[in-house]
Amino acid sequence: MLKHIVPSELRLGMYIHALDGSWLSHGFWKSSFKLEKTTDLQRLQASGIGGLWIDLARGLDVKPAAAPVPSSVPVDAPTLWQEQIEQARQQCKQAQSAVMQMFHEARMGHAIEPEQAQALAEQIQKSVERHPAALLSVARLKNADTYTYMHSVAVSALMVALARQLGLSAHQIKRAALAGLLHDMGKVYTNPDILNKPGALLDEEFAHMQLHPVQGHALLQQSISDAEVLDACLHHHERLDGKGYPHGLRGAEVHLMARMTAICDVYDAITSNRPYKSGWSPAIALQRMAQWCGTHLDTHIFSAFVKTLGVYPVGSLLRLQSGRLALVFALSENKLLTPQVVCFYDTYEARRIDPPVLLDLSATPNEHILLREDPENWNFSDLDDLWQDAITATSASACTPDSSVAV
Ligand SMILES: [Fe+2]
Repeated sequence: MLKHIVPSELRLGMYIHALDGSWLSHGFWKSSFKLEKTTDLQRLQASGIGGLWIDLARGLDVKPAAAPVPSSVPVDAPTLWQEQIEQARQQCKQAQSAVMQMFHEARMGHAIEPEQAQALAEQIQKSVERHPAALLSVARLKNADTYTYMHSVAVSALMVALARQLGLSAHQIKRAALAGLLHDMGKVYTNPDILNKPGALLDEEFAHMQLHPVQGHALLQQSISDAEVLDACLHHHERLDGKGYPHGLRGAEVHLMARMTAICDVYDAITSNRPYKSGWSPAIALQRMAQWCGTHLDTHIFSAFVKTLGVYPVGSLLRLQSGRLALVFALSENKLLTPQVVCFYDTYEARRIDPPVLLDLSATPNEHILLREDPENWNFSDLDDLWQDAITATSASACTPDSSVAV
């Protein structure tokens, strides 16, 4: 499609189909070309031509005038959010070292102390009940050394949030927290080289890894009496279509806690960065998991899971109407479709926004979410750092109604 524009609207990346006037008036010997050099852009704008045609099928359009880039708008009580995050960080740190200790004891051949495990699960539960978004946001940040431990904390936290969303009883919520915490205990018997292997596992390595539900179940049986917690540990890798392990259970044979654990486990695993692969963006992960419902995962429980996290969970990469890329920074209750975001990249200008800008989309009527972006298409290596920097910066910002929050 061709469009007529004036030179002031020109920008790099446009495909120029024809220039008004003869070549003598503008000095370009060819009038159809992709505008890639700044010098050409400047020459065209200085040439005095009245206008030109661009081909939208072969290059960029003009920057949309109808969607002025809003300046940043203060977010809701960022300091409060920062405090919640800081608290959640401390709680995660404590929970992580308690889980490390628990794994260490099990490796030494000692049985799990049920009271200690229950107390830890209750701590995680309380933290989620206080500030759900904060703990779930922090628990997704893991490094290679702490992955297995933080995964247990994260799955426990996700289980609590999911159980609450499903309207389960207080007793069931408690049980869900414990099941999430203990589901992967069998990994204490998995060879660390296989557990942390970069890349695909060989058949025999995969078979070794697949022993962990049975091994964990045997370990927990020594001290945990709750049959549903034991069942979740044994069957969290089962699939509804019978293609899971260790028993190839089908449909109703996979019980509620195991179905819930499967969803929380898969979500945390695919959204976490590993030494050999970057985690998927939370929004992309939910999109892909939706395709596994019915065969692998339970559709009804998954719908509740999505409601728990929001359509755009914290950490998701989005493209906004203004052409800016933004990272979901925080969610406000009842505003799951209009999260608080950090804008850090201008796709029209193909450059970073420095410093990044914090926006509350529920307070910016002329800005909205255009689509979810897959980070794999962009190659940004610092999205988690960006999110953490935003937390730090907002704590230092004094937000008044007229102030902007550049982070
Ligand atoms: Fe597992």
